[in-house]
Amino acid sequence: MRRRGGDRDGDSGDSGDSGDSGRAEGRAGAARQQRGRRSWFPCLGTLLGTLLLGMLLIYISVPFLIRLFPSMLTKFVYLNFLAFPFFADFRRPELLVNNTISLHLTTEPGVTVGIWHTVPGSRAAEARGQDRRWYEEALADAHPVIIYLHGNGGTRAARHRVQFLKTMGAADFHILALDYRGYGDSTGHPTESGFTTDVLALYDWAKARSGNSSILFWGHSLGTGIATNAARKLQEERGVQVDAVVLESPYTNIREAAAHIPITKIYRQFPGFGYLILDSLARADMFFQSDENVKVLACPLLILHAEDDGVVPPHLGRKLYETARSAYKDKNKVKFITFPEKLGLGHDYISFNPELPALVKDFLNMK
Ligand SMILES: *[C@@H]1O[C@H](CO)[C@@H](O)[C@H](O)[C@H]1NC(C)=O
Ligand SMILES: *[C@@H]1O[C@H](CO)[C@@H](O)[C@H](O)[C@H]1NC(C)=O
Repeated sequence: MRRRGGDRDGDSGDSGDSGDSGRAEGRAGAARQQRGRRSWFPCLGTLLGTLLLGMLLIYISVPFLIRLFPSMLTKFVYLNFLAFPFFADFRRPELLVNNTISLHLTTEPGVTVGIWHTVPGSRAAEARGQDRRWYEEALADAHPVIIYLHGNGGTRAARHRVQFLKTMGAADFHILALDYRGYGDSTGHPTESGFTTDVLALYDWAKARSGNSSILFWGHSLGTGIATNAARKLQEERGVQVDAVVLESPYTNIREAAAHIPITKIYRQFPGFGYLILDSLARADMFFQSDENVKVLACPLLILHAEDDGVVPPHLGRKLYETARSAYKDKNKVKFITFPEKLGLGHDYISFNPELPALVKDFLNMK
């Protein structure tokens, strides 16, 4: 709609382009514009000043608020309230990926988590129209089982996670992809120890059904810390080794990750960044110490990192690899694979690389 100029526009508060439309409408309009300018410009100046001051105050107060209320940080780290894709129907995974069924598992009293089970691509034809019982029995078909532990934000229906199901499903793995407590259609609230409980409950459930098939923990991003927490707990508390751990785009521990991710850049020079923000992670019970965990593990450990990862820099993945390698007795059990920048895989898209299954199978000595 063409603007008329004049006072009514002033009322609308849309003063940004009034100069142009004023010129097009002759003197009367211009005179009204002048009046408008005289009264608006000082106001605008004050408004901008107030805004800038407000932003500065927020910038300065956030680190102190975090120190005072460290649990605020859990919101930023877990991002489970960003439940994208927002209209996913978890009960109908077949809309996004074939040979997949949705199930729910109670991991502790009062906490039920949502899971998708994708069966190996070679069983796709058989899988059509099958019920939950068939899927459970399929777990014992000798194909390895991946327990997939996604990163923060979003749900198991996010595009790159669905791609993981497609890529590794087509390569004849079973995949159990869960939404931790507080994510997706799962109940409960996110906590680091709660995630471990969820993963171990799923491990037990799968182990009870998978016969002699191997079970892998595969973590991506935040999920890498969850994978090593779970593998370590399994080993230390029950003397059980998971068959392998794969860490995609990992960090060393959450403190070091937070010091390097882009979002904290604006605070790195802030006096007391370590004390106010980084130390608050531990005060909010967030550790995710993969670097400590891998020193304890003895299972095969594969670390994957893209050189163009813009979220968790690849040097953290390398550092984790070096920590593991120096701690492992059998050095052949630890491997680090980087993906060159030109592939453009970044932080989230390693599962889009068609080479991935072959690399993983080669590491696991499978054909
Ligand atoms: C499932 O498989 C069918 C037949 O191969 C294919 O046409 C369809 O696109 C697949 N669905 C999804 C969601 O990938
Ligand atoms: C598991 O392996 C053992 C020993 O190799 C074998 O006796 C048993 O039949 C296998 N079980 C299944 C379910 O394949």
